[in-house]
Amino acid sequence: MSDVLQEYPSSGGESPVPPPSRSALDAEAVKQAYRRWANVYDLGFGGISRFGRLKAVNTINALPGRDVLEVGVGTGLALPHYNRSKAITGIDLSTDMLAKARERVKRDNLSNVTALLEMDAEDTTFEDNSFDAAVAMFVASVVPHPRKLLCELKRVVRPGGHILFINHFLAPGGIRGAVEHAMARASHSLGWHPDFAMESLLPQADIARATIQPVRPFGLFTLVTLENLPD
Ligand SMILES: C[S@@+](CC[C@H](N)C(=O)[O-])C[C@H]1O[C@@H](n2cnc3c(N)ncnc32)[C@H](O)[C@@H]1O
Repeated sequence: MSDVLQEYPSSGGESPVPPPSRSALDAEAVKQAYRRWANVYDLGFGGISRFGRLKAVNTINALPGRDVLEVGVGTGLALPHYNRSKAITGIDLSTDMLAKARERVKRDNLSNVTALLEMDAEDTTFEDNSFDAAVAMFVASVVPHPRKLLCELKRVVRPGGHILFINHFLAPGGIRGAVEHAMARASHSLGWHPDFAMESLLPQADIARATIQPVRPFGLFTLVTLENLPD
């Protein structure tokens, strides 16, 4: 069965889960896309995404707890910005992106980055309740099954801990929405989904209780902060 047609378990119970996207990226497509991106990623996307990344990291720095999981850590652009009191575990599917993150950790002597592992964020090997917080920066619209990602983050973060997403979400309508729908045809080469709706990731109950903050530039990205409460 294709990824697009498959049904996914609801993590909130009350709302049916929409299909993830018309052209979900499977693991191999992600690896291929980010093999191409790895050398140019920081220059190509690092600038425009900087405000969102810093806002997410600053939010985590202000939260209690030490152990932080960053999924889809990429080239490690966020890593230098965590307080040194935070212990960061980074995971990513892409060997090439992780190689860049490892170079950065060495270059900047980031001793609080305790592990960088090649691992699928939708299906990790961590024990339940391993982390105080987990963050996915510009990742939710890349994974094939966003609700599975949410379930996994809820599992590995302790109750009362926090789950953060910074992402671009589909505009509800207007010119921007139309452009994003049109751009979605290029999802595989872009390596992300311009037409990614927040409801593909979060059930209504989570949307209702999350802190949702638009982020510069132009509110193009959104920071979602969710306390990890039992469903
Ligand atoms: C747009 S980049 C974001 C990188 C980084 N978070 C940042 O802020 O720049 C998306 C990253 O997610 C990774 N990724 C995609 N699907 C993944 C999955 N299922 N598990 C782990 N990493 C994944 C990609 O390899 C890529 O490095």
